[in-house]
Formats: sequence, structure tokens, C-alpha cells
Amino acid sequence: MRDIEQIRKDIEICDEELAKLLTRRMDCIEEIISYKKAHGMSILQPEQETRQRKMLERILGESPYEDEFSEVFGCILNMSKKVQAKKLFTRNIALIGFMGAGKSTVSHCLKDMLALEEVETDAMIVEAEKMAITDIFAKYGEPYFRNCESNAIIELQNRRRVIISCGGGAVMRDENVENLKKSSRIVLLTATPETTLERVKDSDERPILNGHMNVEYIAELMEKRREKYEAAADIVIATDKKTVIEICEELIQKLNQME
Ligand code: S3P
Repeated sequence: MRDIEQIRKDIEICDEELAKLLTRRMDCIEEIISYKKAHGMSILQPEQETRQRKMLERILGESPYEDEFSEVFGCILNMSKKVQAKKLFTRNIALIGFMGAGKSTVSHCLKDMLALEEVETDAMIVEAEKMAITDIFAKYGEPYFRNCESNAIIELQNRRRVIISCGGGAVMRDENVENLKKSSRIVLLTATPETTLERVKDSDERPILNGHMNVEYIAELMEKRREKYEAAADIVIATDKKTVIEICEELIQKLNQME
């Protein structure tokens, strides 16, 4: 049996090697992003990810520490996504658009793709007020809710590389747009009134639509808000008939052309 100090020395050498290898791996990730950008390639390459996953399964399957390894590789992949996101984005990504445009769904998907933190202004308000949005509207009225919304946006001003999912009416106030622009790229998600109704019709959590769940009302309100939405947006993505992955890919591609 080896002397314990000798074993400990060996562990230290392993850790040093691992740190060097991880640094090299992260450098490769940065290089790949630069390459993709320089060659106008799509940032997300699903076929490559599948190939890599299969390769990892083979490597891990050969190890007596398969379960532990897969946990470690999960962390490494997450680290890589973070390095990638750092290289891709310097600001927050603020998602705006009418109710049912897909802001929350897109936000969840982006979070997984880029290992970024996500925040919802509505959720911040619910937490701060300890009350559901419908109850805030009912008890204090819309202007009070809008003030809470403006405060939530102010709170987010100093954050970076966070995905912000804004309530559908947030950019109707110019001061909110100004505050979002200080630290975020603003992405407008759109959908037709018909698609919107399909997405929101079973929910009673949107006081603005309660009692008005029909295409005509949605179309009218959407039209009223359209100018403000478009003026606030850095990029616009139509979401109808697209999968959430397609929307996120388009978003990343378009934002990257701007960075
Ligand atoms: C609102 C949209 C809602 C929520 C509130 C008001 C609006 O958010 O902030 O009910 O005025 O469009 P979602 O767009 O996330 O549904």
C-alpha cells in the first residue's frame, strides 16, 4: 500500500491536471464561439450536441464511476454554457410582448440553453406584494400594479446577463423602456390575435383579459399597444407556428448580430 502522503500528492497532481484541462476546454468553447461568429454559423448545433452526448455516454459507460462522472460532466456542460453566454451576451435579454406571446416559455428555454438566470417582473411583484396579480388589480387597481412593475424594472437595472420576462403592459410606460434599455437588449415576441387567444383562453390569471376573452378584444388592444412595443424593441420575433427551440435559435442569432 502507498504511503498516505504519497496518495495525497497524487490527488493534488490530478486536481492540477483537471484544472488545466478544464481551462483548456473552456478556451476551446470561447474559440468555437469566435469561429461560429466569424463564419456566420448558427450558435446552437443540435447534431453536434447529440454526437457529443453519445460520445460521453460511451466514455462514461467504460468507467466504474459512471453515475458520479455523469454528474461531473453535467456541471462541466453547464460551465461551458455559461462561458458561451458570457462570450455571446454582455447585457440582459428583456422579453416583451402581448400576453400569450410566449415570453415565459421562451425564457425557460433560453435559461436551459444558455445557463442564464431568469426573472419575471410579475413574479417579483407577486413576491413583494405577497398577493396574486388578479388580487392586486382587484384590491388596489391597475395604476398601483403599474407602479409595482416600474419598481421591479428599476430593481433589475444593475443586473447583467439575466433573462427578464416582462409583463405584457410593461413597455407602455416610457420610463420602463428607458430603464430596461440601460442594461438590456429588448426582444419583442409577437403572435396573431388568433394564436394569442388559443394560448391564453384557459387562464383566468390575466385581469386585463378577464371578461374579454375573444379575438376582437385582443386584436384591438394589441393594435393600441403595437406602436409602443415596436418602438421599444431591438429585435422582433414572430412566434406563430414556430417551436420554442426555433424561436430561441432565431433570438440568439439575431441578438448576436447586434452585440
Ligand atoms: C398584463 C400582462 C400580464 C400581467 C398583468 C398585465 C398586460 O403579464 O403583467 O396581468 O397588461 O398585458 P403577461 O404578459 O406575462 O401575461
